[in-house]
Formats: sequence, structure tokens, C-alpha cells
Amino acid sequence: MDHLVSPSLLAADFGNLEKDVLMVNKSQADWLHLDIMDGLFVPNISFGFPVIECVRKVAEKPLDVHLMIVDPDRYLARFRDTGANILTVQYEACTHLHRTVTEIHNLGMKAGVALNPHTPVSLLKNILPFVDMVLIMTVNPGLGGQSFIMESYNKITELRKIIDAGGYNVMIEVDGGIDTKNAAKLIESGVNVLVAGNSVFSSDDPIETIRKLKRLN
Ligand code: DX5
Ligand code: ZN
Repeated sequence: MDHLVSPSLLAADFGNLEKDVLMVNKSQADWLHLDIMDGLFVPNISFGFPVIECVRKVAEKPLDVHLMIVDPDRYLARFRDTGANILTVQYEACTHLHRTVTEIHNLGMKAGVALNPHTPVSLLKNILPFVDMVLIMTVNPGLGGQSFIMESYNKITELRKIIDAGGYNVMIEVDGGIDTKNAAKLIESGVNVLVAGNSVFSSDDPIETIRKLKRLN
């Protein structure tokens, strides 16, 4: 499977979101990544349902929603109703992860689980048969524009081996500090989905940057 690119709207112009969503529509991006932060799980607050509703009306790509919130079970149905297609919860925020993932599927969405940089991939062993995607956080969640943590390559390689050995149908997504320089090595390490915020939206030509992230040679 060719890899996917999911630009992160967190780095877009919040004074003119429509313009940036239309740019993503026109581009070769596969998904649109939306970061939901509650000021508790992470020190930052991003945006909520009214903003997602407006984005949904304009966006033509599937919404890849990344919840950095405590107790996400409270809101799964609302994210579905608001237009999420892929819903990813943080491993560290879920006491009953299997139940959460099952509920996401019952609501008709794809289910992802995200790992903070300090959380080992070995903890996923018993949930891999039940998820569609693992999101490896390659920075500490909460802010865009941070530097990629190099140790992430080892985590990705380790996870790729576990997924292949078990024959699981699970995608690996990476998020944080991804750009046209490290993308090729990430794909070689076994990544399926690249999230990119600042490297896309702060570039001179975001459409061309997305094209480069898609066509890496
Ligand atoms: C970080 C978010 C990321 C962020 C990535 O907590 O989960 O999706 O927007 O931004 P960049 O690509 O700028 O590191
Ligand atoms: Zn994210």
C-alpha cells in the first residue's frame, strides 16, 4: 500500500480556516488531521465541536481525529456525529481501552490508539487484533512545531515487526516534527501515514510540500 499523508490543521491559519481546508482538498493529501486538546491530558487547548463542524462542511478528505483528552469515552458519539472518520485515542488516557475501541467501531469509525514517546509498543500486544491504526507520537503531544524525537525510529521498527509477525491489519501513523527530510526514512521503517503540521502550513507552497511528502523519490 502507498503511504498516506494527513496534514495537521493545528498549524493552519485559524483566522481563515476555510482557505487552508480548501488547499488540502486540492492537494494530494489523503486525510485531514484534527488535534483535539483539552488542557488536561496536554497543557494546551485547541478547538472543539463547532470548529470541526465548520471544517467538515468544507473538507473533502476523511477526518483523522486525534483525541488528546482525558476520558474520551464521554465524547465518542459526538465526534462521530461531528464527522470523524478515524478516531484515535491516547493509550495513556484509556482505562478500558478495549471497550473504547469496540465502541468506536460500533459507531462506524476506524479506531486508532496513540502512544506517547515514553510508552512502549510492547504494551499494545493484546489490543493490536482490535485496532486499525497505531499512532506513534514522535514529539510530546500538546504543541505543533516541536523537534522529532530520534528514538522514534526504533519504536517504529519494533512495532512494524510485531504487526507483521502477528499478521495484523494495522497501519502505523507518525505525528510530530515530520517533514520532507525525515519522511523517506520513516516510510522505510514501516510507517503508513505521515501527519505533518508546520512543515506543510508554514511552507511557501503547501500544495507542493504535500506532493513531496507523497512522492518521496
Ligand atoms: C501534537 C499534535 C500534532 C501536531 C503536529 O500534539 O498531535 O498533530 O499538530 O505538528 P508538527 O507537524 O508541526 O510537529
Ligand atoms: Zn496529532
